[in-house]
Amino acid sequence: MRTRPLKVALLGCGVVGSEVARIMTTHADDLAARIGAPVELAGVAVRRPAKVRAGIDPALVTTDATALVKRGDIDVVVEVIGGIEPARTLITTALEHGASVVSANKALLAQDGAALHAAAEEHGKDLYYEAAVAGAIPLIRPLRESLAGDKVNRVLGIVNGTTNFILDKMDSTGAGYQEALDEATALGYAEADPTADVEGFDAAAKAAILAGIAFHTRVRLDDVHREGMTEVTAADFRSAKRMGCTIKLLAICERAEDGASVTARVHPAMIPLGHPLASVRGAYNAVFVESDAAGQLMFYGPGAGGAPTASAVLGDLVAVCRNLLSGTTGPGESAYAALPVSPMGDVVTRYHISLDVADKPGVLAQVATVFAEHGVSIDTVRQQGKDGEASLVVVTHRAFDASLSGTVEALRKLDTVRGVASIMRVEGE
Ligand code: HSE
Repeated sequence: MRTRPLKVALLGCGVVGSEVARIMTTHADDLAARIGAPVELAGVAVRRPAKVRAGIDPALVTTDATALVKRGDIDVVVEVIGGIEPARTLITTALEHGASVVSANKALLAQDGAALHAAAEEHGKDLYYEAAVAGAIPLIRPLRESLAGDKVNRVLGIVNGTTNFILDKMDSTGAGYQEALDEATALGYAEADPTADVEGFDAAAKAAILAGIAFHTRVRLDDVHREGMTEVTAADFRSAKRMGCTIKLLAICERAEDGASVTARVHPAMIPLGHPLASVRGAYNAVFVESDAAGQLMFYGPGAGGAPTASAVLGDLVAVCRNLLSGTTGPGESAYAALPVSPMGDVVTRYHISLDVADKPGVLAQVATVFAEHGVSIDTVRQQGKDGEASLVVVTHRAFDASLSGTVEALRKLDTVRGVASIMRVEGE
């Protein structure tokens, strides 16, 4: 075992950073044995230096993150600040100054992953980010390494715990969105400003990262079609139940059937109760991976929180330190396939559409004609009428999303269609 320690700089000491520091201290001997050299916390960059941080030597704390990453004697920089800047500049500077980087920064990786990977390659360093997607759940390494010999066709997952908590609450109690969000906020699952979670930005960043690795193709946040879950209603859950389904906010990355392109999307969707993702409760995450040879794999666990996320960070830290000692680097970006990322209109799936219509002769035929004219085949129709009005629930066979959009646009123009109450995609069948 090498006695000279590997030096680690920690950027950020919040919920995740403080757990990383704690585990580095409490598991120091095991980490040293697994790596082949001790690891030493050599500096901790924070915004508020006066805050007391249990277990961290105050002499290590600095507000000058730039000076820390430029020191030249740092072997690994662990970035758990989040956000685009200053994280991007700090990571780039760390790589330029000879450090490998472990990051948990999904937003940055989804936006600028290619440039950061290029910087890591240029300087012969590692850039690892297992913690950026689904907290403790091993996903990046399985996709990048364990499945490197297989062909991944689909990644379908619940990658945001806050929204899963809210949707699970709506499902189990019949609550509306606002009531369930209020409970999530009171219990500390949702942040004071829940936009990133409920509007799907967080999940879309994770989808971009997963799609890029799964399909060996650059996929950026802007390539991911995103719809939040704020408009899911208690009535949608009642409809889902009638179909033997529940509703989840899903991240779905798919290779087209002809293999020539890929899509990535985040939106609420109905999934059958028998699908493994339907039983993912509370704030847990789960990701279903389908590949040619392995078939179906499911990864499940806590997708957020200090200790679970730190577990993923520490796993990367051990891997990066091992690489340093053996004078090598791990796998970098693999984007050789360079498949085009198709727009949402090219996605093929099933749809559940609720319409409010006039209840009079010919209306059903009129509605069915609109579906037929747009090439969307109907699977089932359920109608419930009252006082000259009716609600019509149409479930389709698989159709292009663009065809469904055209259908809905035309339906809205019919005098007999009073309104389109909801449109929900049906996945996982
Ligand atoms: N806010 C995220 C979630 C965790 O609720 O899952 C961090 O990505």
